[in-house]
Amino acid sequence: MEQLLSQINTYKKEIEAATAADEKQVEEFRIKYLGTKGIVKIIMGEMKNVAAENKKEAGQLLNDFKLFVEEKYDQLKGSTSNIKPQTSNLDLSLPGDELPIGSRHPVTLMRNRIVSIFQRLGFAVAEGPEIEDDWHNFGALNLPEHHPARDMQDTFYIQQNPDWVLRTHTSNVQIREMEKGKLPIRLIMPGRVYRNETVSARSHCFFHQVEGLYIDENVSFADLKQTLYFFVKEMYGKDVKVRFRPSYFPFTEPSAEMDVSCFICGGSGCNICKKTGWVEILGCGMVHPNVLSNCNIDPERYTGFAFGMGIERPAMLKYGINDIRLFSENDVRFLKQFTSAI
Ligand code: PHE
Repeated sequence: MEQLLSQINTYKKEIEAATAADEKQVEEFRIKYLGTKGIVKIIMGEMKNVAAENKKEAGQLLNDFKLFVEEKYDQLKGSTSNIKPQTSNLDLSLPGDELPIGSRHPVTLMRNRIVSIFQRLGFAVAEGPEIEDDWHNFGALNLPEHHPARDMQDTFYIQQNPDWVLRTHTSNVQIREMEKGKLPIRLIMPGRVYRNETVSARSHCFFHQVEGLYIDENVSFADLKQTLYFFVKEMYGKDVKVRFRPSYFPFTEPSAEMDVSCFICGGSGCNICKKTGWVEILGCGMVHPNVLSNCNIDPERYTGFAFGMGIERPAMLKYGINDIRLFSENDVRFLKQFTSAI
């Protein structure tokens, strides 16, 4: 017993003085004292030589010793884990790990470009639902049931309830915004639309449009033209020519389609403009009085203009994309080409 006590005390002094400069030395400490053939184990083995009447006291002593060693071990471990790695061979000039950069979809890029031009004129952005009821997609837009112009757009109907459609144009947002009853309105409305068309390189069953709407007192066709002139100059450059052709939309009167001189061949005739020198950009017109009345706006007091354009086609022209299906195939090899595009 005496011998055990003095042995423990010697080790205690040794342990108390122990230090560790790094994790390797901490591990050496653990193996030496707490390992399977370590000193704690060896001393524990001495128990069998202790006389029966001293066993209780010796057991207590050994347990205390074990706790003492473990505490010291924890302390050494704690002190080395905070030690900073040696900075001498740290090269701060090495390039960091590169983060993969995502890219915007070309349709998003074109949409943002179009929207931002109108934002500069004070138009705010509004959006609406892609699944729409008959009234907002057709009825309120002066397209009552059986109106022949409904056939202009091949509609997807929802099977369970044919009163619901996948919107065929973004004009439903016009109606939803006018119904809110807050005037004047100056909005730009981008979104996805659906038409039951055969999918090919040139057309798809879903695509994107941007709609514009301006309602106030004394809004005239001249305002419409001036707004669109500004847009064309910003979008295609100041040398591009513009022409309006009379057209028909049930929701505008008068209606027009706007062409710009072909920005690919400059008007001399190429495949893009089908040798005409002109590229069709959008449909527009003065909001039909029936549409205003349908939204509880007094057509005697208020007038307004609206226009709508596709996004895919200008994006295809700008980025030289020759197949509309590429936009929706999610092929990373296609999409990553637009990382740095604006
Ligand atoms: N909604 C029409 C279309 O999808 C475009 C348009 C919008 C025309 C607004 C005139 C006014 O073809």
